[in-house]
This record gives sequence, C-alpha cells and structure tokens, in this order.
Amino acid sequence: MSFDGRDLRNALGRFTTGVCLITAVDERQQALAMTANSFTSVSLDPPLVLWSLQNNSDVYHVFARPRYFAINVLAREQQEHSARYARKGQHELDPAHFRSGRYGAPLIRNALASFECELESTHPGGDHLIIVGRVRDMHQRPSGKPLVFYSGGYRELH
Ligand SMILES: Cc1cc2nc3c(=O)[nH]c(=O)nc-3n(C[C@H](O)[C@H](O)[C@H](O)COP(=O)(O)O)c2cc1C
Repeated sequence: MSFDGRDLRNALGRFTTGVCLITAVDERQQALAMTANSFTSVSLDPPLVLWSLQNNSDVYHVFARPRYFAINVLAREQQEHSARYARKGQHELDPAHFRSGRYGAPLIRNALASFECELESTHPGGDHLIIVGRVRDMHQRPSGKPLVFYSGGYRELH
C-alpha cells in the first residue's frame, strides 16, 4: 500500500458532504444523537438510505440495531449541534433539540430534512457497520441552507 491512514482520510475529505445527526432511543427510552456524514441515498423504490457506524463507538449497542432511527440533515445554523453530539459521552439529546417522530425516533427541530427509518439490514464494512434503513416517513423545511463538511472543516453554501 503506497498510502497511510492519514493520506486516505485527507483524500476522502475532498468529497464534500452535508452533516447529519443520527438519532435513536436506547433501552431506557433515552434519546441519543450522533453526528455523521456517511449518510447516502441508496434506492428510491423501495426507499432505502444508509449510513456507517464505527465499530468502536461507545454507543454502538444503541445505533447498530435500533428498530427505528432517524437521519436529520443539519442546517448551517446547527453547527453547534454537530460539534456537541460528536463528543464522546455527549450523545444524550437535550430535550429542547428534538420532538418524537411517528415511530418513536427523535426528530431534530429545524433540521433541513428528517428521514424516519426502520432498520432494513446491516452489513460488515471493515472498521464500520453499514446500516441500511427503509424510509417510513419524512419531513423537510421549505427553505434553509445546509451545513457543509469539506476537508475536515465546516463550510457554508453561498
Ligand atoms: C462531521 C463529522 C462526521 C462524522 N461522521 C461519522 C460517521 O459517519 N459515522 C460514525 O460512526 N462516526 C462519525 N463521526 C464521529 C462521531 O460523531 C463521534 O465523534 C464519535 O461517535 C464519538 O465517539 P463515541 O461514539 O465512542 O462516543 C463524525 C464526526 C464528525 C464531526
């Protein structure tokens, strides 16, 4: 291999993404969120999406197999949400930041879009677990700009 992990991370960072909060409730009904940019659309019919979860996450047991979860696309004014829920031990959702969706997964207030998903399948993906969800319901804001992640930093669309 002619590259190391840092080279790979840098090159992958050249792919511009949005930023999401993945949300679910744990076995105590505590609402949790994790910042993620691995969200990808998979299929329109059936409506499938995916994200990938690092195997060594402290909250792997919650996010690896929830019956329902939500993918919330953050708006540019929600950068603080992204930073907060990316911190170790900081995944418990502030009650002011969400409401419960039809299937019980937390929906982030003022997100650009939220996809309420039922777990469809999981697939080993090296040091991550690929999680495929079937979209059961969705919500979107009529306007607003996205939070953008590029080359390891937050950006804005102009
Ligand atoms: C912009 C951004 C994108 C991220 N994307 C992912 C992701 O797709 N999957 C993932 O497992 N962690 C991702 N993370 C890391 C988690 O948000 C978080 O830092 C990590 O889960 C903290 O460790 P813990 O899970 O052990 O608490 C991302 C972090 C940031 C800041």
